[in-house]
Amino acid sequence: MRVQLKGDAICTLFLVVVLCSLLYSQLEHTSPTGNKEQTHKKPSPTQKILPGPEAPKWHPQAEVTFGRPRIISIAKDAEVASKKAQTTTSPPLAHSAFDFKRYLLNKDNRNFDLLINQPKKCLRTPEGPFLLIAIKSVVEDFDRREIVRKTWGREGFVNGVQVQRVFLLGIPKNKTALATWEILVHQESLMYQDILLWDFLDTFFNLTLKEIHFLNWADEFCSSVKFIFKGDADVFVNVENIIDFLERHDPAEDLFVGDIIYNAHPIRVQKSKYYIPETMYGLGTYPLYAGGGGFLLSRSTMKKLFRACKEVELFPIDDVFLGMCLQRINLKPVLHEGFKTFGIVKPSAAPHLQTFDPCFYKDLMVVHSLKVAEIWLMWNLLHSPRLSCTQKKQVKKPFQWKRKKPEAMTDSSLLIKQTKHGRSR
Ligand SMILES: *[C@@H]1O[C@H](CO)[C@@H](O)[C@H](O)[C@H]1NC(C)=O
Ligand SMILES: *[C@@H]1O[C@H](CO)[C@@H](O)[C@H](O)[C@H]1NC(C)=O
Repeated sequence: MRVQLKGDAICTLFLVVVLCSLLYSQLEHTSPTGNKEQTHKKPSPTQKILPGPEAPKWHPQAEVTFGRPRIISIAKDAEVASKKAQTTTSPPLAHSAFDFKRYLLNKDNRNFDLLINQPKKCLRTPEGPFLLIAIKSVVEDFDRREIVRKTWGREGFVNGVQVQRVFLLGIPKNKTALATWEILVHQESLMYQDILLWDFLDTFFNLTLKEIHFLNWADEFCSSVKFIFKGDADVFVNVENIIDFLERHDPAEDLFVGDIIYNAHPIRVQKSKYYIPETMYGLGTYPLYAGGGGFLLSRSTMKKLFRACKEVELFPIDDVFLGMCLQRINLKPVLHEGFKTFGIVKPSAAPHLQTFDPCFYKDLMVVHSLKVAEIWLMWNLLHSPRLSCTQKKQVKKPFQWKRKKPEAMTDSSLLIKQTKHGRSR
């Protein structure tokens, strides 16, 4: 009798254990939905992402189809799962897990040499450039830089003000993939005089170093600049709109404008690209920060940020790091509707074409994220003398995809209206 009871108990126990481990493995598979790890690469433009809690309100059912994922914490059960994972057996980390211990140990090593400089970049005119465009790029992206130079990143006079451009580069992490990179980059620098190259590995988690080094450079070599646009190479920038906006501001006053993200929570799911353990950042929310696709700052703010960032400990997510610097100087970044740094929200009813209407881009400032050819095409469409966008009657012609479902149309016109509002004309 007793023996049998014991046997039953053992059997039940065994079953429970099996069930638990099954459940556990199930949870493991389903936990991170939105921000799937992509090893060291930036999220691909086609990646589906979660619209954050602060997603644009003009079309609640819309899905964001491209752009950077927002840094938000995801579903509670996922978090619970990860906590479980941490407290119980702590399974092997994802193959490409970021080495936080090493990062923390090396955190004070934050001064790297400038290997290629453009010391005269801002000396072409005695009063300095009106706008400096600083673009994060990686050595391998020669074609992207080329397109940016030929389109929105043009140097010279734009709308009557002087615009200069620099690309911000580090050492490519896979040198065997492009053995001749050094020669190529030096050649490119000679040709265009717009390359800044620093002696640190150009990895996702080193973008914060790029931020700091650029601010150092700007303070030292471009202190006469009036305004700076800093952004990624895969954005479309409407420089004319930006200049128009900036002309109503004073470079000696504080200005930090972009797609500002409020109340973002650190992601505690280990598999996420944006995973941050509590030991590294203990607070529940990040300070306000601008989406990395692009933002504007005044000379005054650049100088303040340069000093503030020196005193902030390195943090592996560059956008958030800059938010920490802003917080340190008590500077509130300003949200502008013209910055679509997470890509344009497109109606799920109209697939892939609708957002490529130039009239759609006419009133925007920055749109993340476009392919090389799209940047070229959009710039040319926008600068075509034949382009006419009367806001009320853009229902007609000239592109085929405009004859589509009415709900998509209202979405687009609303967006432009909101933009107008944001520009406070
Ligand atoms: C570097 O690039 C080469 C050639 O594209 C590739 O075969 C190799 O796997 C890459 N190495 C790493 C570490 O990614
Ligand atoms: C950043 O760059 C430094 C210098 O090249 C390198 O030692 C370090 O591993 C890089 N850090 C990351 C997180 O990639």
